[in-house]
Amino acid sequence: MSYKDRLSDLNRESPSSLTQQIVDAFADAIAAGELRPGERLPATRALAELTGVNHLTAARAYRRLSELGLVSGRVGKGTFVRATARPAAEAVGEERPEAMVSEAWQAYALPDAVDSYGDQVLAEMLRLGATAEEGLIPLSLGYPSPKLFPLGTIREISAEVLTEDGDRALQYGDVEGIPELRAELARHMERRGTPEAPENVIVASGARQALTLAARAVLRPGDIAACESPSFIAPIESIRATGARMMPVPSDDNGLDTEALEQLVRRHEIRVLAIQPRLHNPTGRDLSPARRRHLVELARRHGFFILEDGVYGDLRFEGASLPSLRAEAPEHVIYVDSFSKSVGGGLRLGWVAASGPVTDRIVREKRNDDMHSASLTQLIGARFLADGHYERHIEQAVDFYRERCDVLVAAVERELEPIASVSRPLGGGHLWVTLDEPLDERVLYREAVSDYGVSFLPGGAMMPERPRRTHMRISFGFLDPDQLTEGARRLAVAIRAVRRSGRPARAEPTIA
Ligand SMILES: Cc1ncc(COP(=O)(O)O)c(C=O)c1O
Repeated sequence: MSYKDRLSDLNRESPSSLTQQIVDAFADAIAAGELRPGERLPATRALAELTGVNHLTAARAYRRLSELGLVSGRVGKGTFVRATARPAAEAVGEERPEAMVSEAWQAYALPDAVDSYGDQVLAEMLRLGATAEEGLIPLSLGYPSPKLFPLGTIREISAEVLTEDGDRALQYGDVEGIPELRAELARHMERRGTPEAPENVIVASGARQALTLAARAVLRPGDIAACESPSFIAPIESIRATGARMMPVPSDDNGLDTEALEQLVRRHEIRVLAIQPRLHNPTGRDLSPARRRHLVELARRHGFFILEDGVYGDLRFEGASLPSLRAEAPEHVIYVDSFSKSVGGGLRLGWVAASGPVTDRIVREKRNDDMHSASLTQLIGARFLADGHYERHIEQAVDFYRERCDVLVAAVERELEPIASVSRPLGGGHLWVTLDEPLDERVLYREAVSDYGVSFLPGGAMMPERPRRTHMRISFGFLDPDQLTEGARRLAVAIRAVRRSGRPARAEPTIA
């Protein structure tokens, strides 16, 4: 019986679903050579007619075949048998463990998962952070150094909290956060030049959640959001997840190009601009005073929010410390921060500061998301701040990271010039490296990790648009000086090797 005969004679009484019967008919035909690699399958409409199923079921069957690696779709062209189609028995699961077979239905029920390039890069960074691959130097990791963790202090404070405040530590709490932490965070911001009322502070589980809550509070699908470029994956993906349209705004050594932003806001009504005006990740730069003024003036004139991310603001190695933009325009600026970079990311202690009606919107998003952040960690954070531990810790951290930054800058200048350029950051945790000639960053990443034992964060994941040049973020916070030196050396060898292999030069990544 040919596969077309099987398709036109599906068994509606069978315990096997119609989708599964269609998948099996194609898989068997591919395995038997009845359908050859490269051969085109009927269009979904024709398949629906032939089999007597609806169009969605036909599309689902093709999706399943594609997930099994048997076919691939080309937009506007159709569905084709893959040249590398795996043997059907293996692919359709007849010899797979029972659990996998019984879960196979999920492939039809789940919506298509489209991981953005940024998601993939972040997942890869976290994977390397979790597995510590033998021999690999993870220059991609933007983690703080565990050598600085204030373990003794946190141990003592945790014991105090559990002894003196145990009932609150394990009980549900206020959506906005526990009052003493909100008051301490307001004082923390005030010490840094931004007068803040505790009522305006909402505790979040890390800056990532703070960004997500703020983005959801101000954006709806189809709205326009602007984002400086480059930026970090967290702000970019928080905005993208709302369904808003993202417009990149270029930046240079003085930070965001506010003239370019002005051109943009004249043509489009933007709701929000995402920016890191102090010790930006990945460049380590500040927004210049003149541009700060221009930005605030534009926000007031054109009526948009500024989503200010300040997670690296306390890690300054050079120059005078700057207050947040929120100090200048609290009615326009939603400020996001955390202790992830300064103390430890595992605490997941972050916050948002906002004024006016947007504050209630953020609180609503927080309630809908996770009710409130963990009470135990909040109580620990409040005491850590109140007892002055934070300020002492940060002094030590700045000296520690400055030394590592110097080591990595020197190693990059020695190993990578003239094939790449880097400018010394004013603080933060990273260097932004630009190659003098474009390379395919995916190829470079793969080869750097597998053949040369070094990773970096591909720049394309940190830019809302397709980059014209090849950039890499490399981080100095997590690694020791000798690893930083060796990492830069390996990176230089990897770049030269990929260049020599004459791969097609393509700066922009293919977004999955
Ligand atoms: C600029 C920036 N914003 C936000 C985040 C997310 O921070 P958190 O770990 O506090 O969620 C990061 C983390 O790397 C970051 O670099």
